[in-house]
Amino acid sequence: MYKQELMFIVESILASNTVDEHIECAQKLSCFYKKKTMLAISADNEILVKGGVALSSSGAADCVDDYLRTVFFIKGIHKALTKLCTDFPERSINILYAGCGPYATLILPLLPLFDKERINAVLLDINAESIVAVQQLLAVIGLEDYQLQLIETDAITYTKPEGFTIDLAISETMHYALTREPQVAIMRNLMKQLTPDAILIPEEIRIDLAYTFFNHEPYLNNTSYEVKGYKKMQPYPKNVFVDRLFTINKEHLGRENHNSKLESRFYTLPADFSNQPDVCIFTEIKVFGDIELKTAESYITNPYCVVSMYNLIGYSGIQLVYDYCEIPQWTYNLALKE
Ligand SMILES: C[S@@+](CC[C@H](N)C(=O)[O-])C[C@H]1O[C@@H](n2cnc3c(N)ncnc32)[C@H](O)[C@@H]1O
Repeated sequence: MYKQELMFIVESILASNTVDEHIECAQKLSCFYKKKTMLAISADNEILVKGGVALSSSGAADCVDDYLRTVFFIKGIHKALTKLCTDFPERSINILYAGCGPYATLILPLLPLFDKERINAVLLDINAESIVAVQQLLAVIGLEDYQLQLIETDAITYTKPEGFTIDLAISETMHYALTREPQVAIMRNLMKQLTPDAILIPEEIRIDLAYTFFNHEPYLNNTSYEVKGYKKMQPYPKNVFVDRLFTINKEHLGRENHNSKLESRFYTLPADFSNQPDVCIFTEIKVFGDIELKTAESYITNPYCVVSMYNLIGYSGIQLVYDYCEIPQWTYNLALKE
């Protein structure tokens, strides 16, 4: 019964075309998970790993309510899986999903659309409770006969089994501007284990530097009364794009020769910054193909303010530094005025 209902919801997600439709079907998915399955999940089991913070089970569950994120990732993964099924009609498709959370939101709803013989998936999460929750969900929904392996492990150090050639790797373990959560450390580990033909989702993450008025930029607040997914504000018209700091995709992760630190070059700080007082990071995500999340269309593409130029009087240049050795964060170095 639940399998049919889930299939109906995921079909509406795939057919949705407008923001209103995206929100409506994502809300149905959220209700399905939260009310129908009646899982009890903890809010106090956040885990600190070398590379970022793994959200608590309830924090990870709540990601389903980042509506455009959820809809665009499900659409992108469906597109990728359909392509792989066409490219390899004779065999099952090997999926690695790193950081599945308690709902396995980005793959579980799609299962009823594919024959169980076509899917062979490994689902990882560092949070034991999230793994148990996925196991329970599969039983409640009636998806236990799919070939899914659930593993409690750290996806930053995980090594895939020999003989398991990954066709599709998925990980959404990110916070805006790639801060806080271990997306980069996880992607780096997955990338090493992919063949050139494999698909990585998200396909690309682009990180840009801009000088702007942070308070005038669109921002999606994490408040339950806000209609999530709506971009109520327009981009600030005097925003000045400075540079693309780095791009992460299957082929490369920023500059190749780095340990866990990415350093930009020095950029000139403008003499008159009254219209653009803030040094900010913007994130865009290419989920797969033409499916993209732009600024503030989701929490994970919200802009991030590194520093106000009012605090940098006396300096002429700034270098941005992204470090994901522990909890990922942005810092900066300054060049003094001559
Ligand atoms: C942002 S939530 C996303 C949950 C779900 N995939 C979704 O998209 O709705 C990230 C999930 O990744 C897990 N995670 C974070 N770091 C991890 C790591 N190093 N190894 C395994 N799982 C990790 C967290 O426990 C959490 O369940």
